[in-house]
Amino acid sequence: MTPSNYSKTQIALHWIIALLVLFQIVMHDEIARLWSGRMDGTLPNAATPNAHVAVGFLILALAAWRIVLRFKRGVPALPASEHPALKMLASGTHLLFYVLLIGMPLSGATAWILGVESAAQVHAIAEKLLIALIALHALAALAQHFWFKTDVLKRMLGRA
Ligand code: HEM
Ligand code: HEM
Repeated sequence: MTPSNYSKTQIALHWIIALLVLFQIVMHDEIARLWSGRMDGTLPNAATPNAHVAVGFLILALAAWRIVLRFKRGVPALPASEHPALKMLASGTHLLFYVLLIGMPLSGATAWILGVESAAQVHAIAEKLLIALIALHALAALAQHFWFKTDVLKRMLGRA
């Protein structure tokens, strides 16, 4: 199914998840401190509850909801005028976002709950990839609006 726009729920989920992800990236000092304390033995090796973990699980639940909606309702097509290579880049970026939105909470949980150090390394590498993708994605959204003059940004703001 190919609807002509995003639903209100899809739009709300996009921006709420984006804000929560930015929160996770900017406010990571506490979890990094707790984790290194657990690893060097200065803190008990226990999966204590904290904001990073709670927000991370919230992102997992919202991302799962979003993926279900994507299958059930569908998403609008990329602009017909867009070069096939750019279309592939956009679809690849979106797919990788979904992989990271599910993979980051799972690798984080494996590190935090089961104490697996290699999962924490995967989590930290995924973070770098996520930051690069966000930069690319935000630039592409602005380029669509100001350079290519499509309605791609407007439709994610509910104004198309
Ligand atoms: C999409 C959701 C998540 C994002 C974007 C995210 C992001 C981050 C970031 C940016 C760091 C700092 C990494 C660094 O020091 O370079 C971090 C560390 C960490 N996060 Fe998450 N996180 C998410 C979900 C979770 C969840 C659900 C858990 C646990 C249940 C978790 C557990 C950890 C742990 C244990 C660390 C410290 C280990 C490390 O530095 O790699 N994270 N996370
Ligand atoms: C952590 C931050 C972000 C994440 C994880 C994220 C994730 C995503 C994903 C997965 C999609 C694909 C939706 C789908 O068709 O299934 C999407 C679409 C979109 N995003 Fe983001 N996004 C983020 C931040 C931003 C920002 C900052 C902007 C604007 C500057 C933006 C603008 C857009 C637009 C315009 C679309 C629609 C693309 C289209 O209709 O083809 N996003 N985003």
